[in-house]
Amino acid sequence: MANITRKDVEQLDQGDTLASFRDEFHLPEGVIYLNGNSLGAMPKKAVERARRVVEVEWAEGLIGSMNTAGWYKLPQTLGQKIAPLVGAKPNEVVLTDSTGIVQYKALAAALQMQPDRRVIVMEGSNFPTDNYMAQGLVAHLDRGYTIRFAEADEILDAIDEDVAAICITHVHYKTGNILDMAAITKRAQSVGAAAVWDLCHSLGAMPVDLNACNVDFAVGCTYKYLNAGPGAPALLFAAERHHGKYFQPLTGWYSHAEPFNFERDYRPAPDARQMLSGTQPTVSLSLAEIGIDIALRADMNAIRQKSKQLTGLFIELVEERCGDHGVSLVSPRDPERRGSQISFDHDDGYPIIRAMHDRGVICDYREPANMRFGFAPLYIRYVDVWDAVEQLRDILDSGSWNEEQYRRRAAVT
Ligand SMILES: Cc1ncc(COP(=O)(O)O)c(C=O)c1O
Repeated sequence: MANITRKDVEQLDQGDTLASFRDEFHLPEGVIYLNGNSLGAMPKKAVERARRVVEVEWAEGLIGSMNTAGWYKLPQTLGQKIAPLVGAKPNEVVLTDSTGIVQYKALAAALQMQPDRRVIVMEGSNFPTDNYMAQGLVAHLDRGYTIRFAEADEILDAIDEDVAAICITHVHYKTGNILDMAAITKRAQSVGAAAVWDLCHSLGAMPVDLNACNVDFAVGCTYKYLNAGPGAPALLFAAERHHGKYFQPLTGWYSHAEPFNFERDYRPAPDARQMLSGTQPTVSLSLAEIGIDIALRADMNAIRQKSKQLTGLFIELVEERCGDHGVSLVSPRDPERRGSQISFDHDDGYPIIRAMHDRGVICDYREPANMRFGFAPLYIRYVDVWDAVEQLRDILDSGSWNEEQYRRRAAVT
């Protein structure tokens, strides 16, 4: 659509079947929040839940809340809830730890299932924690493992009979590029390798079907599109066919078959509970339920549809209005191939992003020159896209980003 007007965009909002969800989130006055791909917005009901967990369950219930408030079973209860969002069975998912830690456990379990092989295939440009965790695991095991790094279009060719496991992220954190989970998993399993997937940028942003793709293990952040809260525990999926056969290395008592038998020797739990380690971040887990419940009420196909339209509108408007200011699209132009965030390169991306923050448009920056914009379909409106691009256009036209204060790097970019 050429020469789109704000009125056109308002009409898109009027026809949006997800529009009513926005009211379930607290969005600060005057802010356009295009960073839900990093930390999702706060569901309003989280405040009431936080009060209950602290003032009632903790303050009054004390240790009894382990049973009476269901604290002890939260990793499994929430895992059961989240399972349909990723095409998993209720007993295949737990919520626990951070994404990096559960990825360490999942990859270790996958390697242990292929004891005679020594190669792991990963995407070199992936979010670094995945690669760092794998490098740490390999160094720790000290058994001659190597990590074979491949970029998106090289992955299939990198998988051969030496490969023990692939550990790949579904949607790229910078470009938003979607990898073909079914095809890559099939290729891995055809040579006898296990498939571990990271769903950080797809969980809650699009339909995911782990069992249809026959994935072995998967992990993912809940604090992005599931709005589970800062530092909320991660999703960890272990396919039922591996239950009782895999072994993860952080064998704390919560992963024991009978934790409250207090036996001397370790016996693994026979299901995804074996992926737990110790006492859980209970306040965080409790709050996570609010965002998950909201996502469960939304139609994931509608979320995906809106995501494609929001990102498409953003690309079109940026290229139309800011195209002669040295911005270039990094994300796939094909909506089927991109997730819910868009990156544009600009040599001065960092000060531009900081100038956007000053005008209430929250987005972020990733080296070497990526301006990254996330579109969470549950609370981002089409007019937000329009207004954000207008701010970007004005900042670029006026050159107001070119100030020393915007060049100074904050710890978190
Ligand atoms: C692909 C990927 N994996 C992992 C993480 C984060 O891991 P953690 O929650 O352990 O910091 C991110 C964060 O954005 C990510 O993009």
